[in-house]
Amino acid sequence: MSSVFVPGKIIISGEHSVVYGEMAIAASISIGVSAEVVKSGGSKKTEIVRKAIEIAGGNSGLHVWIQSNLPIGSGLGSSAATATAVVKTIREYLGKPIDNDELFKLVMECEKIAHGNPSGIDPATVISGGLISFVKGKPIQKMIFKSPIRLLLVNSGRPKETTREMVEFVAQSKNKEEIITKIGELTERVATMLVNGEEVRGLLNDNGLFLEELGVVGKTARSLSQKLRELGASVKITGAGGVVAGSGMLMAMSPNLAKIKRFLDNGNISYIETQIGDR
Ligand code: MEV
Repeated sequence: MSSVFVPGKIIISGEHSVVYGEMAIAASISIGVSAEVVKSGGSKKTEIVRKAIEIAGGNSGLHVWIQSNLPIGSGLGSSAATATAVVKTIREYLGKPIDNDELFKLVMECEKIAHGNPSGIDPATVISGGLISFVKGKPIQKMIFKSPIRLLLVNSGRPKETTREMVEFVAQSKNKEEIITKIGELTERVATMLVNGEEVRGLLNDNGLFLEELGVVGKTARSLSQKLRELGASVKITGAGGVVAGSGMLMAMSPNLAKIKRFLDNGNISYIETQIGDR
């Protein structure tokens, strides 16, 4: 029996607006979820894992071992990566390997539990890997960035709300249309600039501010973002965000990452350093 690994993801630009048909840009990351069918034991079966086993054609007596180093519910695609890893490993175990299109359709069924009205960007990114631009209902476009983006994924705390609740919150928000259009336009500019190797930090910071205006960034993450901006960083949440407690991971970009890291280390704030767009 072989184990499969599925990466997590970050949304570089366009979360939430992607649900309304605007473009988003996303990248897989080096941490993720491993899964393997095992003879006995296995991991606790959450609603998503149970659904993933069922849609992959496995029976409820199957045991699946799952190991994840993605923080749960923090914007790094943990639900999509878990469902993808479970479906893939079961189909391999059953001797019926699955292609990416079918895998996407099955994982979307699990995403409906996690997101309510998913755009599909999370499964699309973790299944394809690499860098993509994504528009709901259309085939993904693979991207090549001329220059990679160095960034820190700063943990602003685990959100209390689920992605589903945050997507519903935006759906009910009165001022969403204008902000969503602005994020969509900004994302299209960012996509062109990334391909041309132009500096996008300022625009991504604007995207972060639009998400704050949309109301998906809580007080803790807003004040942390403010401090990071005062130190010269560009900041945006990545993923659905959160209001009552933390807002998940923040992307922090700066020409002087050492200064940002010193601040985070001194404040005992956890972060992951990564680079997106390497070939
Ligand atoms: C979550 O990673 C991204 C959202 O835009 C929801 C979705 O697109 O399904 C918030």
